[in-house]
Amino acid sequence: MLLDVKDLVVKYNQIPALKGISLSVEEGKVTTLLGSNGAGKSTLLKTISGVLKPSEGEIIYLGRRINNESGHDIVKMGIAQCPEGRKVFPRQTVYENLKMGAYIRKDKEVESDIEKYFKQFPILQERRNQKAGFLSGGEQQMLVICRALMSRPKLLMLDEPSMGLAPIIVKEVFNAIRMVKESGTTILLIEQNAKQALQVADYGYILEVGRITIADDADALLHSDTVQKAYLGGA
Ligand SMILES: Nc1ncnc2c1ncn2[C@@H]1O[C@H](COP(=O)(O)OP(=O)(O)OP(=O)(O)O)[C@@H](O)[C@H]1O
Ligand SMILES: [Mg+2]
Repeated sequence: MLLDVKDLVVKYNQIPALKGISLSVEEGKVTTLLGSNGAGKSTLLKTISGVLKPSEGEIIYLGRRINNESGHDIVKMGIAQCPEGRKVFPRQTVYENLKMGAYIRKDKEVESDIEKYFKQFPILQERRNQKAGFLSGGEQQMLVICRALMSRPKLLMLDEPSMGLAPIIVKEVFNAIRMVKESGTTILLIEQNAKQALQVADYGYILEVGRITIADDADALLHSDTVQKAYLGGA
């Protein structure tokens, strides 16, 4: 496994938001974590990326315990995240946003990587010199995904990338996620949009108020009665 989370407890002011959760992310696969508002999804992402510290349990990445590493070192180890709410740097151009995604790199391929993403996402190319704050929600989502990829991560974590987007744009975002998967990057995808997430994922977990209640192959979840009823709006 690329990432193993074991018995993780995370608290805010003594109150646990994650009550002992375990999950694994397999290399080269898309793993999705589904759950309603307040379930603890973002808390998990923030803990893996080093923003929050767990009070119990461990996070093992590439065989190494990373609970106590700084956020900066975690990015350097190859874990990148797109936080909730599509946080572009609004006053910087599209190009500058991408360039900032490579801040940890010292190699000479930064420019060619930027051009690669411009080819993959022509809409970003068209807007390369515009301030990112003026992009549409869907375009901003593509930009934050590409910006995260600019660190050349082994593991890309996405926090509700489809949130608040129109259905047709949601489709584009999921197509982008498919492209990232095909390029070989491992993905941990947090979503409330269960159907789309399970269609792109290989494996899925359901998180309910701080506990994982179901874990199975994405296909099995897509066809499970319980998941259908609770997360897919009936059969
Ligand atoms: N900074 C904080 N201080 C105190 N409690 C918090 C804080 N952030 C989150 N919580 C609480 O922790 C629980 C989990 O929150 P979290 O943001 O992880 O949920 P989520 O699954 O990402 O929800 P959403 O789908 O709304 O983004 C919630 O009960 C929330 O109120
Ligand atoms: Mg959240």
